[in-house]
Amino acid sequence: SQPLRVGLAGLGTVGASTLRILRRQENALAARCGRAIRVTAVSARDRNRDRGIDLGGLAWFDDPVALASSDDIDCFVELIGGSDGPAKAAVEAALSAGKHVVTANKALLAAHGVALADLAESKGVALAFEASSAGGIPVVKTLREALAGNNVSRISGILNGTCNYILSRMEQEGLTFEACLKDAQRLGYAEADPTFDVEGFDTAHKLAILTSLAFGTKIDAEAIHVEGISAITPLDLKMADDLGYRIKLLGVAERTKTGIEQRVHPTMVPKSSPIAQVMGVLNAVSIDADAVREITLVGPGAGGDPTASAVVADIADVARGTAGLPFGLPIARLEEPKRAPMQRHEGG
Ligand code: NDP
Ligand code: HSE
Repeated sequence: SQPLRVGLAGLGTVGASTLRILRRQENALAARCGRAIRVTAVSARDRNRDRGIDLGGLAWFDDPVALASSDDIDCFVELIGGSDGPAKAAVEAALSAGKHVVTANKALLAAHGVALADLAESKGVALAFEASSAGGIPVVKTLREALAGNNVSRISGILNGTCNYILSRMEQEGLTFEACLKDAQRLGYAEADPTFDVEGFDTAHKLAILTSLAFGTKIDAEAIHVEGISAITPLDLKMADDLGYRIKLLGVAERTKTGIEQRVHPTMVPKSSPIAQVMGVLNAVSIDADAVREITLVGPGAGGDPTASAVVADIADVARGTAGLPFGLPIARLEEPKRAPMQRHEGG
């Protein structure tokens, strides 16, 4: 059968890793998918930047929108970032042109996920976004597919690698917030604008996506109460430690009697609890559901290769034709979310 022709927009931390993994795993992926996956064209801002990867033989597009609608690709992979601007324009162009789309862009999905999924559904193409939430942890597939026989009542966890990395190093090594953030940026964990990480917005974007998948509701990012970690001091961490606690930035979504509650804030967790053992760039997502009861997934939440692992899995789904509906059910079946009034919470 014909190879899947992939156009890759964004050759930064995640894009470069995606290209490397697709090349390294070329034969295994072809065997698993029953057809070859071939990156044929790429787009980034700076054509002359040395990325440590051979781009010879690939068509270059300065404009990701032109790449997205090119007749020479079947699947557009968006790894640029940002809720609007070129990422949104390119994803819309690709879907409108009947191309499958794979993206890691949670800011885009939190703002426009339902409209984009609707467009994908109307065109009969895939919109796949495993990498958008919790990096390498397969939480999207878990909620959408593996837990199809459950009613989910709660999702909670650490959804931002940068914040967990900063809090872990501040606590364990006594480093400053600024020094830890710089390292997170150097390691490719942070967003292009790290305010999204440290002020909790990135966690909120991921929580909004996961809430929709868990409860079958339309994305409601604006309902989320958001508080980040930029005001946390070494003294706060020390005082928590003296009391037997750690501070973690948690995202929590739960069904209550009055509606769905979604919140992101720093939380004191007992040092003996499983979530307190999740350190560094790791993320953890716990899901409470009626049949399976509780499961917790732990793994790298940011960084090139772990995130690209999820991107490549989505591309493989597209190649096999197993990508399915973006939110697991037709968009017309997604419920309007009912917001619960905010409660005060102690300890997550
Ligand atoms: P980077 O900043 O490392 O890479 C962004 C890429 O997009 C660069 O190659 C850049 O080009 C390119 N780009 C930017 N603007 C344009 C434009 N107008 N036209 C064409 N190309 C453009 O970002 P990341 O790889 O870290 O992140 C990519 C996406 O993945 C984001 O949505 C992010 O939120 C998400 N993500 C990131 C994770 C991570 O750990 N880093 C984890 C999970 C998701 P150039 O290189 O020439 O500057
Ligand atoms: N900046 C994000 C984080 C990348 O640190 O978790 C992964 O989504």
